[in-house]
Amino acid sequence: MQSAQISSLPLSGKSALVTGSTSGIGLACAQTLAAKGASLVIHGLVSDEEGNQLAANLAAKFNVDCYFVAGNLADEEAVIALVTRAQALLGRLDILVNNAGIQFTARVENFPIDRWRQVIEVNLTACFTAIKAALPFMQSAKFGRIINIASVHGLVASKEKSAYVAAKHGLVGLTKVVALENAEQGITCNAICPGWVDTAIVAKQIEAKAKMQGISDEQARRELVAEKQPMSHMTSVQAIADLVAFLASDSAATMTGSAIPMDGGWTAQ
Ligand SMILES: NC(=O)c1ccc[n+]([C@@H]2O[C@H](COP(=O)([O-])OP(=O)(O)OC[C@H]3O[C@@H](n4cnc5c(N)ncnc54)[C@H](O)[C@@H]3O)[C@@H](O)[C@H]2O)c1
Repeated sequence: MQSAQISSLPLSGKSALVTGSTSGIGLACAQTLAAKGASLVIHGLVSDEEGNQLAANLAAKFNVDCYFVAGNLADEEAVIALVTRAQALLGRLDILVNNAGIQFTARVENFPIDRWRQVIEVNLTACFTAIKAALPFMQSAKFGRIINIASVHGLVASKEKSAYVAAKHGLVGLTKVVALENAEQGITCNAICPGWVDTAIVAKQIEAKAKMQGISDEQARRELVAEKQPMSHMTSVQAIADLVAFLASDSAATMTGSAIPMDGGWTAQ
């Protein structure tokens, strides 16, 4: 009875690697893919003890195989090792979600070069390296779903985010190239471009704005969203995860090379 239920799940038999999945959007993606039957490798910067516990909890809750693999994505060798290990642990690699990302804000003339390099390395180069490492597995299986968590900043710019905007625009471009090169290989590659999503990466920006302007966190949050989004509420991590699950599904088989905004109307203006 139980196995009949499991095999009827939409992603049963599929396996996924989600980078940066111990928190925020990545964790929601991991939970949602597991709930749909995919076996998983989760990844992040937490301790092995914390990561292994989280993986064990997901495995027990969703009755799937789930492993934690650590690795600093600023290090090319660590990215390659992560993808290779994920494939070895899961026996196949069908879905790659490049989610991990970092932010740093400063005007260009004040932007430290090491911060620029770090943002480009984690938000763009690591995605390239992970895709490069995953493609041979996907090409030999004639199936793959690569989903890059970009940003509205892959489509438009904001002040003081030069490295992030450059990296996310680059990620949207990379998405299109990978889509074209693999169009006849059963592999799709798409980018999701969220506006404001309620996670730690945004909490830091709210805190910084509140401190700089001497206003409450709540007011800073309202102002931050209103500056950019016609809709006054942020997108939920679950909404992004549901879109990831859709892009991983059979229904999205011909969707490739797209950059999909989920941004409360930000880029419609
Ligand atoms: N929150 C938003 O409003 C928003 C909007 C648009 C796009 N995004 C993008 O969504 C993605 C997820 O962000 P989030 O909001 O969930 O933030 P988050 O800070 O909760 O998650 C980021 C994840 O990336 C991992 N990470 C960061 N640097 C790493 C490194 N060097 N090596 C390995 N892992 C690393 C962290 O461990 C964490 O798990 C990012 O790519 C971000 O740019 C977020």
